[in-house]
Amino acid sequence: MIKFNKEQIFIVTGASSGLGEGTALLLNELGATVIGIARNKERLDAMKAKCKYPENMHLEIKDLTEDIEGLPQYVKELKNKYGKFSGMAYCAGIVDINPLQIIEKKQMEELFDIDYYAPIFLTKGFADRRNNIGQGASIVYISSIAAKYCDRGMLTYAGAKAALISSAKTIGRELAPQGIRVNCVSPSDIITPMVETSNKVRTNFAYYPLGAGHVDDVANMIVFLLSNKAKWLTTQNYRIDCGTI
Ligand SMILES: NC(=O)c1ccc[n+]([C@@H]2O[C@H](COP(=O)([O-])OP(=O)(O)OC[C@H]3O[C@@H](n4cnc5c(N)ncnc54)[C@H](OP(=O)(O)O)[C@@H]3O)[C@@H](O)[C@H]2O)c1
Repeated sequence: MIKFNKEQIFIVTGASSGLGEGTALLLNELGATVIGIARNKERLDAMKAKCKYPENMHLEIKDLTEDIEGLPQYVKELKNKYGKFSGMAYCAGIVDINPLQIIEKKQMEELFDIDYYAPIFLTKGFADRRNNIGQGASIVYISSIAAKYCDRGMLTYAGAKAALISSAKTIGRELAPQGIRVNCVSPSDIITPMVETSNKVRTNFAYYPLGAGHVDDVANMIVFLLSNKAKWLTTQNYRIDCGTI
């Protein structure tokens, strides 16, 4: 059984909704201290209200795209406030579905900022030896099956998610000497506000042999990868797609 203690401190981005919220709540339930990051205070507060151990859930309001090159300094400030980090689950993200003929560079940049550049520069800060515990630390990024199995209109999203998987492999090799593991999880459609509120994401859960995917199906995998039970797993991308692909 996976257990953490409150001295184990994890950054969880996207903690106000969907997969990030589920990951933050599960880590907290298993005993870890969580720094939950997102922009929306009301939704973060609502997440905290569901916590098993609210005293171990700390909220940080932050737009991760407002100063991407400043993110390493931001991680340092969080470390000074809370202590060295045992891990990070990067769950913030947006989806954008637009075909090639109407795509604009600005839109692509907005998506790449939060889905690709922000996790890279947060990791740059995390990887500073002064900010993490070293041996046993673990980073998990949420990519997507769209990285490999791309439908029409997904060129920006698929590109950012594929870039993240590739970069995770190289970052994992760079950080292995410090004892830091780096992995991706790539879900297919999971019922979250991103899928439920988007008028562009097309889902057909009838294709899934075991039915629709839920937040805990992904959060359990992320938490396993953050834990010491996964101590030999690094630079991998784990598909969570119910065998659809
Ligand atoms: N749901 C799926 O089916 C699915 C499948 C594959 C991959 N994914 C990936 O999983 C990740 C999470 O998806 P989800 O379904 O949980 O989406 P969601 O419910 O819409 O949550 C997205 C989270 O990202 C945060 N966020 C967005 N922009 C931000 C910014 N600029 N700065 C800080 N935080 C920001 C949001 O918080 P605030 O709005 O409060 O800032 C929110 O907490 C995304 O990367 C998505 O691509 C999802």
